[in-house]
Amino acid sequence: MPRKLVAGNWKMHGLSGDLAEASVLPAPPDVDILLCPPATLITRMVQAVEGIMVGAQDCHPSAKGAHTGDLSAAMLHDAGASYVILGHSERRTDHGETDALVRAKTEAAWSENLIAIVCIGETEAQYKTGGTLDVLRGQLARSLPDSAPAERLVIAYEPVWAIGTGLVPTAAEIAAAHQEIRTWLANSFGTETAEGIRLLYGGSVKPSNAAGIFAVPNVDGALVGGASLTAADFGPIIKALAVA
Ligand code: 13P
Repeated sequence: MPRKLVAGNWKMHGLSGDLAEASVLPAPPDVDILLCPPATLITRMVQAVEGIMVGAQDCHPSAKGAHTGDLSAAMLHDAGASYVILGHSERRTDHGETDALVRAKTEAAWSENLIAIVCIGETEAQYKTGGTLDVLRGQLARSLPDSAPAERLVIAYEPVWAIGTGLVPTAAEIAAAHQEIRTWLANSFGTETAEGIRLLYGGSVKPSNAAGIFAVPNVDGALVGGASLTAADFGPIIKALAVA
């Protein structure tokens, strides 16, 4: 069993004063806690907060070059990040990111020893037509490199329609999606590797629904957006994972 992981994606939220929220989080021994603030806060969060890991929300696929405004995996590592979220649906929508680009970014992240959290998930239309598992298999096939070190890869299943909406799939739907992902990983990388890759659920995780989500088989943790911004909300989610 891999170590449980609860990750907070601050998205485009967070100024210096918000670091205080990170410094008062509970730190149960059996749970890895990760916060991914905006890149402007990575170094200060690393310096200010003990006992949690810090990650980035994106990286460029190239090691360096003429790419105004972008950040390489090496820069994020140098700033103190140990993880990077890749292929989030907001990156895919806002910046037209494709699966092929996510794959290139994953390789870039690994070349700098960052752990990649690769996000996949179906849209509302795909969900309504029963296409979820097909979509997930396709995204996995196109977004992941041909081989994967288990300790460097995390998959986040985030249904697009559940992000920021308060809507959450049923436990049975999450179970089916996570089982499908585990099976796909086993077929592609072998059973041992597949069992070591952490599978996170993301999309409207709150203190009120966290325990139910963490009880679902093959859910090794969560990728949390809005509820990761305050210790009042993120703290209970961390504690729910610790006892799951
Ligand atoms: P919410 O938890 O705000 O729905 O966001 C989920 C998400 O996108 C995490 O990456």
